[in-house]
Amino acid sequence: MMIERIRREHGYMVRLLAVLKRKISQLEHEQAINYSLLHEIVAYLAEHSERVHHPKEDILYQYYLDKFGHLEAIENLELEHKQLSQKTHAFLATVEMILQDAVVPQDIFLDQLREFVVSQKQHLEMEEHSVLPIIVRNFTVKDWQAVEDMWSVNEDDPVFGDTIAEQYQQLAQRVRQNESEAL
Ligand SMILES: [Fe+2]
Ligand SMILES: [Fe+2]
Repeated sequence: MMIERIRREHGYMVRLLAVLKRKISQLEHEQAINYSLLHEIVAYLAEHSERVHHPKEDILYQYYLDKFGHLEAIENLELEHKQLSQKTHAFLATVEMILQDAVVPQDIFLDQLREFVVSQKQHLEMEEHSVLPIIVRNFTVKDWQAVEDMWSVNEDDPVFGDTIAEQYQQLAQRVRQNESEAL
């Protein structure tokens, strides 16, 4: 069901944000970090959100608004998805600059990384705690069927799924290696 897939994707995001939090702490302790792994994480969060996660939620939220009427908490989310995508791409561009050996001051990079993690986390927690419960309470089986019928995108996950994409090899390997331990 769509709600289960959305929650599973949130679970993946939480795991990746936890890895990024650890990177923040490593940088704060002046330890070297693997920027190419960090790049894979941010690129995955950008690509995956835009291809399968946000569009699915947008269908759900629009359906709710059409059927149950105005609800401010839900109305703002489509715009928030656009803003999140912009922020993610801006941060991705900074990570790419570092990989190309451009000089990015560490404190500026750290601020951007912290801000990235916080904005992703706030959005996700708001959905999990405030928005999805309202939808779950109101939707009938027919409503779930209706939103499912509006969705036909292939959801194969390039990191957590069966087929790992070339550009996420490192990340996929780390995720599997660390299934039982911290990443
Ligand atoms: Fe969302
Ligand atoms: Fe979400």
